[in-house]
Parts: sequence; structure tokens; C-alpha cells
Amino acid sequence: MDRYQKFATSTLGRRVVPRLGLPTPHQLRRYAPGTPALDGPVLLGGGERLTRTAAGVCEAIGADVHAAPVEGQRYAAVVFDATGITDSTKLRALHDFFHPVIRSVGASGRVVVLGSPPAEQTDARTRVAQRALEGFTRSVGKELKRGATSQLVLVGEGAEGEVESTLRFLLSARSAYVSGQVVRIGPAPVSEPADWEHPLAGKVALVTGASRGIGAATAEVLGRDGAHVVCLDVPARGGELSEVANRVGGSSFQLDVTAADAPKKLVDHLLQRHGGVDVVVHNAGITRDKTLGRMDAALWDAVVAVNLSSQERINDELFGRDALRPGGRIVGVSSISGIAGNAGQTNYATTKAGVIGMVDALAGELASRGGTINAVAPGFIETRMTAAVPLLVREAGRRMNSTSQGGLPVDVAETVAWFANPASAGVNGNVVRVCGQSLLGA
Ligand SMILES: NC(=O)c1ccc[n+]([C@@H]2O[C@H](COP(=O)([O-])OP(=O)(O)OC[C@H]3O[C@@H](n4cnc5c(N)ncnc54)[C@H](O)[C@@H]3O)[C@@H](O)[C@H]2O)c1
Repeated sequence: MDRYQKFATSTLGRRVVPRLGLPTPHQLRRYAPGTPALDGPVLLGGGERLTRTAAGVCEAIGADVHAAPVEGQRYAAVVFDATGITDSTKLRALHDFFHPVIRSVGASGRVVVLGSPPAEQTDARTRVAQRALEGFTRSVGKELKRGATSQLVLVGEGAEGEVESTLRFLLSARSAYVSGQVVRIGPAPVSEPADWEHPLAGKVALVTGASRGIGAATAEVLGRDGAHVVCLDVPARGGELSEVANRVGGSSFQLDVTAADAPKKLVDHLLQRHGGVDVVVHNAGITRDKTLGRMDAALWDAVVAVNLSSQERINDELFGRDALRPGGRIVGVSSISGIAGNAGQTNYATTKAGVIGMVDALAGELASRGGTINAVAPGFIETRMTAAVPLLVREAGRRMNSTSQGGLPVDVAETVAWFANPASAGVNGNVVRVCGQSLLGA
């Protein structure tokens, strides 16, 4: 909890804060192994296409499913299959279903709307109606209080059986700081893990920039999920890096990813020690902020080298030497700066938009190998990087989102773990923001 959050939830704060019209950041529910996925029943309604699948997932995670609202009941999640909406006049079904129950969504509750990808629709009316779902779910996210979230999941034709890992993620506390997102799922060879608590058992994952912040949290979560994690960071951070590697039962590898021979050294290491790699998380990143007129070329070059070019060179080496195993996953770390732009960050935002370009450019190649590439785009996450931001800018960044608080590194890590899950093979080419539905960007 940040200092303001502590005050806002104290006895005095609870009285003063609402009177001043200030936001009250709710303590978000986060995943802890062994705890139930949901803390109440799920209300499930809507069309035919995905309802049965959604009901199956809810049952698999031990949730009670209601087909109609029960008077006075608080819902942990409300799920609506909107794939049957084929005309704007039928959008009224959203109002009919959600209006009576939206105020019954509990704290850290979940709203999930299931739709069909608009671009796949040959009928213009259907395409319009399905595209309209986006405005609905994003607005619901902005209305929900107390840490509840709202998402739209677009399920392609033939991908009906591929939604389980995504629903498990979005319905659970793992997606605490993810809201207002649109996720696309396509048909793919999905392999369901033998144990959903350890879906990465037997896999090898590489996390760059793993000695602290989001990278360290990602190493921890991937390790918790069963992977052997190769934790990489610059030699100067070797001590902290070893500590993280030991904590997660993985190994450490000291390397500056911008060095000319870095891709070769890294892929040599992965092939010799592990016979390849299953999950690659390009997390290492730096900021060198200055407005463009004051930014010398060295600041530009440094950021581009770490945040973008190094990743391209590592990917080339992985592909060229077939080191990414079949079904392999690449996860990029973008930023809301790369989506919305940010004053003082022309260099950084360029690279973070480039990461999105990398996802677009390589999704087809990865799919042909049975794998995926996706990116997380964090908003304001409480790390050393954001602690260095000037106070007022920092406070604005923290509060200007639907949850009125900053996210934690673990929130980004859980999203990466969802992409890495073998059951997420249908989740390819997505950029998912982990930003508490920040007001910046779409
Ligand atoms: N913190 C946020 O709010 C936020 C928001 C959006 C995006 N991100 C992105 O998330 C990622 C992690 O951010 P963080 O906040 O944890 O940052 P951080 O500075 O705490 O960690 C970054 C790590 O990358 C390592 N690194 C830097 N250059 C390297 C190099 N040449 N070779 C190997 N390792 C290198 C650093 O040593 C450091 O350990 C970055 O890509 C960042 O741009 C962070």
C-alpha cells in the first residue's frame, strides 16, 4: 500500500477522503497459491457459442455458476457471451443483462464479455455490433469501483476450445491490475497443463533484466509456475541477480544484452546448458528522459540499443539456431508510453512502440512454429524506475487510472505467466496493458 492509500483506508481517511472528492484506492485482491480462484459465484449469461465453454471453466476452478441473478447476491464475476449480437439493435442485450446486476459485482470482481473478432465477420452489421462491444467493456471498467475489472475477449472461429487459460487468468486475482483490455484468441494447438498450478513444469524460461523490479517478479512467478528460470542481467548487478536466481531455484547469467557478441553468448549458453529455451521474456529496459531538443544522440542510442535492437538480435539468433523450442513463447515488455506517447520520452516511447511492432511482425512466424509472441504494456508500476519520477508526476501516474493506485511488479509478472502457459497457444499477437486502465492511451 502506498502512503496515500494507507491514509485513505484509515479510520480518519475513510471519513475525510470522500468528502474532499478524492479517490479511495481499494486494496486489490492478489493471487496466493492455494486460495480459491474466486471468492463468490459467477453469473453467466448471453448467447450459445461460448456459454458452455465458459461454464466448464468456471466449474473447473471451483466456482458456483448462476444462470440468472439471485436477489441480494454479490457476484465475484459476471460473464456474458455476446457472440450472438449480430446487429446494433441487438446490443440492447448488454443493457438488459448488465443493468440489473452491475451493482452486484463484488470488490475485486470481474466482468468479462465474450465476442467474435470484428475483422473476421463478413456481414457488415455483425462486424459493427461486435466492434461496439469494446466501448461497452472499457466504459464498464471505468464505472466499476473497489478494484473490479472489465475485459473483452474476442474468440475466433474454431478457437472455442482455447479460452480456458485466458478465462482462468482474467477471472482470477492474477489479473488484479489488468482492466479495460481486449484480448484476441485464435485457433491453435493448445496443450492443457497436467497441473494448472504448475503449468510450466519442465520448461526453461529466460528473463532479461531479472535482478530487480518487474524482471525479478517475473522470474519468481515463472519459477513458481514450475519453470527453470535463467535470470539475466548486467555483470554490475551480479550479486542481486544471484540472489534472485537462488530464490527462484533458477540460474543466473551475467550479460550486457547490447554487447556485439551477446546473442551468440546467450544462445550458446541456452543450448549447451538446457538444450534450448521455451519462454523468452525481453524485460531489460532503460529510460534516459529528456525533451527532444535537449536529448543528445547518445541518450537516443542507449535506449534504442537496450530496449529494442538487442531484442531483435537475440530473436534472430534464437530462430537462426533453432534454440526456441517448438511451442516457444516470446514476451515483449512495452509500455503505455509506447501507446500514448509521453513528453520527455521520445526515445523510450519509440522503442516501446517498436516492441508492439515486433509482436505484429513476428506473430505469423511464431505461429508457424506452434508458438506465440505477445507483449505486456505496463502503466505505472511501483519499481525503482518509477520511484525516480518527480513527486507530482508520480502521484498523477499512480492515481490516473480506474484503480487509483500503482500496480505491483507481480501484476506484470502474472500477465507474462498467462502468455507463457502452454494452454495459451491461441493468444498470439496481443498487447495487453497492465495499467489499472490508465487514462493515458486507448
Ligand atoms: N516500472 C514501470 O512502471 C514500467 C512501466 C512501463 C514499462 N516498464 C518496462 O518494464 C521493464 C522493467 O522495468 P523496471 O521498472 O523493473 O526497471 P528496473 O530498472 O528496475 O529493471 C530493469 C533491469 O534491466 C537491466 N538492464 C538494463 N540494461 C541492461 C542491459 N544492457 N543488459 C542486461 N540487463 C539490462 C537493469 O540492470 C535492471 O536490472 C523495462 O523494459 C521497462 O521499460 C516499466
